[in-house]
Amino acid sequence: MIRTPPAADPKNAKLGAQTLTSASGNQPVQILGICGSLRAKSLNRNLLTLAGELAPQGVSVEIFDLLPIPLYNADVERQGAPEAVAALKAAIAAADAVIFACPEYNASPTAALKNAIDWASRRPTPDVASVLADKPAAIVGGGGRRGTVRAQAQLKQTLASTRMELIDDVEVALAGLRGNTDENGMLTNQEYRDLVGSLVQAVADQVREKRAAAVS
Ligand SMILES: Cc1cc2nc3c(=O)[nH]c(=O)nc-3n(C[C@H](O)[C@H](O)[C@H](O)COP(=O)(O)O)c2cc1C
Repeated sequence: MIRTPPAADPKNAKLGAQTLTSASGNQPVQILGICGSLRAKSLNRNLLTLAGELAPQGVSVEIFDLLPIPLYNADVERQGAPEAVAALKAAIAAADAVIFACPEYNASPTAALKNAIDWASRRPTPDVASVLADKPAAIVGGGGRRGTVRAQAQLKQTLASTRMELIDDVEVALAGLRGNTDENGMLTNQEYRDLVGSLVQAVADQVREKRAAAVS
């Protein structure tokens, strides 16, 4: 079953996430979608919704809403992670992989996305890895003429610094995103839709290969 995620209206902001699930299979793969746009009608968040719709059998995409995440502040962190941050970290820890939706603001990832990654990168204690370390990750994004390639390049550097395992054999950097969507902001361009489908398939394959390697 597939459900559309709620709009990121501050009134509707909630901790946690909503699941967009394809028919279940034998080996479920849980992907967490994190979108750098807080906009209610974000086209980039819709790419995560589409990933859930196109996911192969047994693969689900859950979207985490970044709206309640405060700006990183080490003083606040020292008092204990805010509830929304704890929820973010728990959602990442529970997921098999993360897909970041990366809109581009002034040639960079959005502050909201970088801020969320900064919080998530923090280790509970120096001897324990962060929830991001060794977690498979992929990126989708769309925007103007250059399709967010500059923002995605920076995001890749950040993800490497957090030791996430980047899956980049499929590049989803969609130029002219606005002109390739319908009245609901969903992708109409078949080539673009196929790219999103290939990416979610690649993420699922990577998770399953990793599992198989762990038991052999
Ligand atoms: C402050 C700001 C800076 C932007 N800079 C860029 C940019 O550098 N490159 C680009 O492709 N689009 C840029 N845009 C346009 C956004 O990428 C576009 O509005 C996009 O649809 C936002 O994603 P969303 O629909 O997921 O909210 C910018 C928008 C804002 C608000």
